Amino acid sequence: MARIISIINYKGGVGKTTITLQLAVGLATLMKQRVLMVDLDPQCSLSLSTVDEHYWADWLERRGSINNLVQSFFETEQPQLDRSWIIENALDRAWDSMPGNTPGLDLLPSHLDLPEYEMRLVSRKPRHIASMEEFYFKRTTILKEALAPIRRHYDYILFDCPPNIYLISGNAIVASDYYLVPTIPDFISCYGIPFILQHIGNMQKDTKERGLRSTASFLGIVRNRVRQAGGHLVREHEEQSHKLKLNYENLLFETMIFDRIGVAELLGTRHNIYNSREERLAETRKEFTALTREMVRRIEEPRA
Ligand SMILES: Nc1ncnc2c1ncn2[C@@H]1O[C@H](COP(=O)(O)OP(=O)(O)OP(=O)(O)O)[C@@H](O)[C@H]1O
Ligand SMILES: [Mg+2]
Repeated sequence: MARIISIINYKGGVGKTTITLQLAVGLATLMKQRVLMVDLDPQCSLSLSTVDEHYWADWLERRGSINNLVQSFFETEQPQLDRSWIIENALDRAWDSMPGNTPGLDLLPSHLDLPEYEMRLVSRKPRHIASMEEFYFKRTTILKEALAPIRRHYDYILFDCPPNIYLISGNAIVASDYYLVPTIPDFISCYGIPFILQHIGNMQKDTKERGLRSTASFLGIVRNRVRQAGGHLVREHEEQSHKLKLNYENLLFETMIFDRIGVAELLGTRHNIYNSREERLAETRKEFTALTREMVRRIEEPRA
């Protein structure tokens, strides 16, 4: 039965998509796990970093995307996630008969029009839902309900969340068992962390009051784009790391992902770094391997 994990932070550009992708590829490649990545961001960076752009655009036309799931909320009492919307073995897919270079790694793609669908969730009560009270509740459980029947087909389901905490992110949290918060260890990026954690806590309290268990636990904070000079972290990153350690103790991941040109290129190149022998990716490969293993360890050996 899949463990469901949200990669979430309402700060933009901190590495949510990069980390989602590399964790997913790491789980599939290093541990032979069956992984579903769900792209919940209308920027579609995860989709476009996984499959070929033309293949993705064509897939949305021919098959479906996360939009279809939101649409089904307006059409039926039981929102359905049709498995035919999921691109199997998605990494590096450029056409249907091309196998994709990472077996077991699937993708439910996003769509540029997702904000329009999310707006409908704000204001438009479907006819089949009787009261506004029920509408407010059910619009946050779409993803949870829809994933229930397909959960058993995967070991992990990872959500790449958008840089906001509106209804799609709310759906992700309600559907998750865990959430992980990437940040850059600088003042601006760390400033919002207490607020996102508080917001998630409030959301969980709210769903609980409405009779639903939303128990996603906090897996921790991952530092990304860490910079070093002369063998040490640069001063600001060192200071913020120290603060994070004081405030979050062992909820701060030990593994850090350093700022490297090779990582910046990863979102565009669509290849599997764990299978690559490229020397310039060696450090990045090591860091993401350590991150994948640390995440699994934190799930399997939670603190008492
Ligand atoms: N460790 C790193 N080293 C160098 N560049 C990085 C690193 N991590 C991420 N980047 C680059 O930073 C940019 C933002 O990363 P990414 O898209 O993963 O962040 P995000 O949090 O998902 O952003 P958004 O909030 O827009 O969804 C991308 O161009 C990515 O290639
Ligand atoms: Mg992103």
